[in-house]
Amino acid sequence: MTSKNHSKRAQFGSRLGLVATTVGSAVGLGNIWRFPYEAGTHGGGAFLLCYIFFVILIGIPVICAEFAMGRASRSGVVGAYIKLGGNPRRWAWPGYAAILAAAMIIAFYSVVSSWTMEYMVHSTVHIFNPQPTGNIHNDFAQFIAGPKAVIWVAVFMLINGGVLLGGVQKGLERVSSILMPVLFLILLVFCVNSLLMPGASEGLSFLFHPDFSKLTPSVILGAMGQAFFSMSLGMGCLITYASYFKDDTPLLRTAGEIALLDTLVAILAGVIIFPAVFSFGMSPAEGPTLVFEVLPNIFSRIPGGDVWSALFFLLLFVASLTSLMSVSEIVVSFLGDEFRMKRRTAVLWITGIGIILGSLCSLSFGPLKSWNLFNIFDYISSNILLPLGGMATSYFVGWTLKKKFIAAQINPNGKIPAWLLSGIIISLRYIAPACILAVFIAGLF
Ligand code: TRP
Repeated sequence: MTSKNHSKRAQFGSRLGLVATTVGSAVGLGNIWRFPYEAGTHGGGAFLLCYIFFVILIGIPVICAEFAMGRASRSGVVGAYIKLGGNPRRWAWPGYAAILAAAMIIAFYSVVSSWTMEYMVHSTVHIFNPQPTGNIHNDFAQFIAGPKAVIWVAVFMLINGGVLLGGVQKGLERVSSILMPVLFLILLVFCVNSLLMPGASEGLSFLFHPDFSKLTPSVILGAMGQAFFSMSLGMGCLITYASYFKDDTPLLRTAGEIALLDTLVAILAGVIIFPAVFSFGMSPAEGPTLVFEVLPNIFSRIPGGDVWSALFFLLLFVASLTSLMSVSEIVVSFLGDEFRMKRRTAVLWITGIGIILGSLCSLSFGPLKSWNLFNIFDYISSNILLPLGGMATSYFVGWTLKKKFIAAQINPNGKIPAWLLSGIIISLRYIAPACILAVFIAGLF
């Protein structure tokens, strides 16, 4: 690393901005769309408990590992493995796998994000021009299969590109600092409303009372995959963001804040959705359409439903934009590091490729049904590449980089208790790789 390179690299402006941007990455569709349906199909409380277990045991240590790699190397994911792994590029492959995973995530994530925009605009139009509610299931199926969804994918990718063009401080950080408080405010409003619903307690007990008979290998694999996905782990997103951290940013504390806020938002999303689902006598196990069919069904039956609906999909839009920005930034940073590409050129590439792959995924609900790229990309990235990426990161930091490196990054002024530091190292060396491998293999059968 040359010092010239170091001083030229962008940095976050303030700690608050840094936390907003990193939480913005973590909090996304994963929390508000994926968590409730995964929990809904995997038995509620048992899934939540498993999920929290993985966040603490593996999530926080792996966040620390990614942070340490990013800040020490001041590079994106591929550069970090290459710089820290030494010659001869022996460790470059997890970096390239991460870039592949990023492309897949952009492709299917932009599709779901595009649905949020359609629903937001649609509800807003209804507020001013009330119409009878049609058949929600058919409307949804028709919309996602059609050309309108593809147009929204392009619009979403262009907005995303616009933010990325602004750079780290004036783009990512500024937008996140404005949008994240808005997101938390909307969440709170919904929570209060949901808790006041007549059937709230049934929904809450579904979420908070674990039924251990529901714990199967696939539930456990699902909870682990969800923990990785939700905290943006396993593909160098946090390596990339940490390469913009200041030298004195406290890594463990920041990791704890991210894990806590991210888990809190997932739980709040459950608290919002399950009481509503139960009080309207619907099934929590609807799968991926839970948020796009079950909720609109409920909105259509409550007074002021269109306003609630517009607000809810605004929440989802905000959450998905700040997350997609971070996945795209992985690739932008890679193209800059590796090919010395200007930010503007890199953003153009990522926007173009995102529109093409996103459209193909979107069409897999319609004309390209037989390809089913959407599910393939979702499955390969969340259930295979992310856990394997997490395993590579923890093994790499735990074994290749040695204790001294970790201590210098995570505990530069010796304030962290020895047991905590040892715990992190034990997790990175043994627990995380072993758990990931065991659950991964069990889940394949
Ligand atoms: N964490 C985001 C969510 O919960 C998605 C996401 C953003 C992501 N960046 C990532 C997932 C990097 C995996 C890796 O929706």
